[in-house]
Amino acid sequence: GKVLLAYSGGLDTSCILVWLIEQGYEVLAYLANVGQEEDFEAAREKALKIGATKVFIEDLRREFVKETIFPAVQCNAIYENIYLLGTSVARPIIARKQMEIAKQEGCTHVSHGCTGKGNDQVRFELAYHALNPSIEVVAPWRIPEFYTRFPGRQHLLDYAEQKGIPVSQTRGKPWSTDENLFHISYEAGILEDPNVTPPKDMWKLTVDPEDAPDTPERIEIVFSGGNPSRVINKGDGTDVTDPLDLFVYLNTVARRNGVGRIDIVENRFIGIKSRGCYETPGGTLLRIAHMDLEGLVLDREVRAYRDEHVTPVYGRLLYNGMFFSPEGDLLNKIIPLTQASVNGTVRLKLYKGTASVEGRWSDTETLYDMDESSMDVQGGFEPLDSQGFIKIQSIRLKKWGAKALN
Ligand code: ARG
Ligand code: SIN
Repeated sequence: GKVLLAYSGGLDTSCILVWLIEQGYEVLAYLANVGQEEDFEAAREKALKIGATKVFIEDLRREFVKETIFPAVQCNAIYENIYLLGTSVARPIIARKQMEIAKQEGCTHVSHGCTGKGNDQVRFELAYHALNPSIEVVAPWRIPEFYTRFPGRQHLLDYAEQKGIPVSQTRGKPWSTDENLFHISYEAGILEDPNVTPPKDMWKLTVDPEDAPDTPERIEIVFSGGNPSRVINKGDGTDVTDPLDLFVYLNTVARRNGVGRIDIVENRFIGIKSRGCYETPGGTLLRIAHMDLEGLVLDREVRAYRDEHVTPVYGRLLYNGMFFSPEGDLLNKIIPLTQASVNGTVRLKLYKGTASVEGRWSDTETLYDMDESSMDVQGGFEPLDSQGFIKIQSIRLKKWGAKALN
């Protein structure tokens, strides 16, 4: 058969590529550019050198930003109250293109290098099955002949040497990472002890807040329909509107101010707990600004409905790899509908690891009425009416309270 392997250029997927050939497959390699720092051309050369018959390098950054990062921001998606889902949001985009190419190339199988204990195997494979149930999956890290042959990194290194697979000189870091435009994750290795402080030089996408500049930076983020549509920083002359440029700029400005780090222990879908460190620089700014603007422009009940019924479900769906699903389709339609009024601008101050809101306004939305909200102006509101409001709200409370007094 013909297999399309999601290839990273690293040791694991290089050994997998060669091993698949040994098993009799013709192997095509697929590398998604979702904004990770990577020498894509070097990876292409390497894949071809070790036996791939074709290599596909796909720039998916734009669809990534528009199709999963923005919806996640629009509904304030979050997992277990803290994780911004940076790996989860990339998976549907990567899987979809892989299945497109697999079909176009007549592949009978697709493959990946995810371990048998993680979330990513589930995310990739649920997406594969939803998108094209006729293509089969080879997951080497779940095949006994594979994982008993390679019980540790040294076995992969020995195999690489024996098969002429080039191994990069840089010694493997004592943790594993997954990087894209939205975030980077650090897991495993020395981080497995949840009480080990991550070394200072682990963090890659943000400066240490202690080393960030002593003077704050101020930016404005404009939202249209709940999506960021413009970012302005008068301090450095930035004024960007293109979704990808804007997102890249938010990463840059958050990075230099040390914004977006977390260190957590989470529950994987599989049921295992896992310690992870994450940097989500631009995404953290967007979350803070977006939630703030909603306070100004979103109807109370739309917000409550969304917070109760959309945000938690969407977060779980992304985390658990159910993006391509009936409920995913439904939520992807609902989310923009909740955001029609989310138009306006939020002013943020970035300073040593924090981003705080300094103000916000909207030129088009009128739910916030300064006179109505004022403590100094009556603004058409009749205070006497509140008397009746409280009286009626208290009918049952009085009965309940009276009973307790007896
Ligand atoms: N724990 C995070 C998640 O499940 C990050 C996973 C990182 N994936 C990886 N292949 N290193 O979303
Ligand atoms: C892996 O297990 O391959 C990485 C971590 C995860 O998917 O959760």
